[in-house]
Amino acid sequence: MKNIVLTGFMGTGKSSVGRLLAGEFGCRFLDLDTVIEKLSGRSITEIFETDGETRFRGLEAVMVERLVAGEFGSNLVVSTGGGTVVSESNRRALREWGTVVCLTAPVETILSRIGRSKARPLAGADNKGDSIEERAEALTELLHSREASYSEADFTVDTAALSIQEVVEVIKGHLLLSGKK
Ligand code: S3P
Repeated sequence: MKNIVLTGFMGTGKSSVGRLLAGEFGCRFLDLDTVIEKLSGRSITEIFETDGETRFRGLEAVMVERLVAGEFGSNLVVSTGGGTVVSESNRRALREWGTVVCLTAPVETILSRIGRSKARPLAGADNKGDSIEERAEALTELLHSREASYSEADFTVDTAALSIQEVVEVIKGHLLLSGKK
């Protein structure tokens, strides 16, 4: 089978959907952020705080290279970080390696899903004084700046009104129709 890569903004359900999808296909699931954390021995938040975003993007690019080189195996469902496909070379590599599925959701849904979790350095959760409107505005801007990158997926699923299981069913339907599974 062709590998499956889940892309999309924070809070669109990539990891939960990926885990379930892999279970249904009987293949292995890999969360790219978790791989980065395991191999570097630090959390994503720590990497951002100590080394900054640029260094994190470097680690992310190395993991994509290792992934597509087959170092983590094949027959995989992989969830990427929300910013992984902003890099053109990551996008190209992942599209060659697997079927790229982008998950989307409106900013209100994203905000309600991610709350004030500290695990996402770019979600503005640390700016405790920020109103919900300010956070929504910042996330909307970030989301818009990435839309062109996300749109290069093989197909896109809006997860706003769907349960995780329903998203998995929609993805399976797309894969069957396209003959990719
Ligand atoms: C990021 C999203 C996060 C994580 C990092 C940066 C982003 O992953 O990779 O905090 O740039 O959008 P999730 O999309 O899994 O939250």
